[in-house]
Amino acid sequence: MTRRKLAAGNWKMNGLNADLTELEGLPSVSRAEVLICPPATLIERMARKTSSVSVGGQDCHPARSGAHTGDVSARMLADAGATHVILGHSERRQDHGETDALVRSKIKAAWNADLRAILCIGETEGQYKAGETLEVLRGQLAGSLPDGTSPDNLIVAYEPVWAIGTGLVPTMAEIRDVHAFLRAELTARFGADTGDGIRLLYGGSVKPGNAAEIFAVPDVDGALVGGASLKADDFGEIIKALE
Ligand code: G3H
Repeated sequence: MTRRKLAAGNWKMNGLNADLTELEGLPSVSRAEVLICPPATLIERMARKTSSVSVGGQDCHPARSGAHTGDVSARMLADAGATHVILGHSERRQDHGETDALVRSKIKAAWNADLRAILCIGETEGQYKAGETLEVLRGQLAGSLPDGTSPDNLIVAYEPVWAIGTGLVPTMAEIRDVHAFLRAELTARFGADTGDGIRLLYGGSVKPGNAAEIFAVPDVDGALVGGASLKADDFGEIIKALE
């Protein structure tokens, strides 16, 4: 099964109108797909500004609409031009107490709005040091993924929490073993076609200097990039490493 490589940028709570000019500095690519998930305030303008970069949200509420002050629904993201939404990011799990059950309901809401969900999973530093990584990931996958998962509606991002924004990165052997494990888990639950087709991203301190090495690891289908996605020069180098 051929899986299209994906460079996904997560701007997190960064980005003003003026920063949309970064789009102009990105390289044009033919084989890889490029996605940026800006803050919700910029989705519509970013989507209008580019046709070569897909645009996504960073979270959505599980409900279709209603009395949820400050929240954004999946339909609103789609209405603004988003095609993807990041769900279950560790910063949401930490800052907002998001559980696997809540993430699962958000994934269903994303699908109902025809958005592709990027499910983030990853172990904390303590869990890593205790050798619990695979067990944690198995639980997050089982708890977060609804039935109906397919390569068309889901991407999984493995992001060790201790690697996010720290400059720390697992060894390539560790990334290889985790991605092979995730592939096997997805195949066991959803069957070979689906398990083989779902793209697996690595996230956590991906930079121009380490991107090529990470992308050479089997079962790594691209990256979810935080800090290095904010500047076109850095993100552009990462995108080029995928081609
Ligand atoms: O969503 C992106 C990740 O949290 C990675 O962030 O590239 O700044 O480490 P980072």
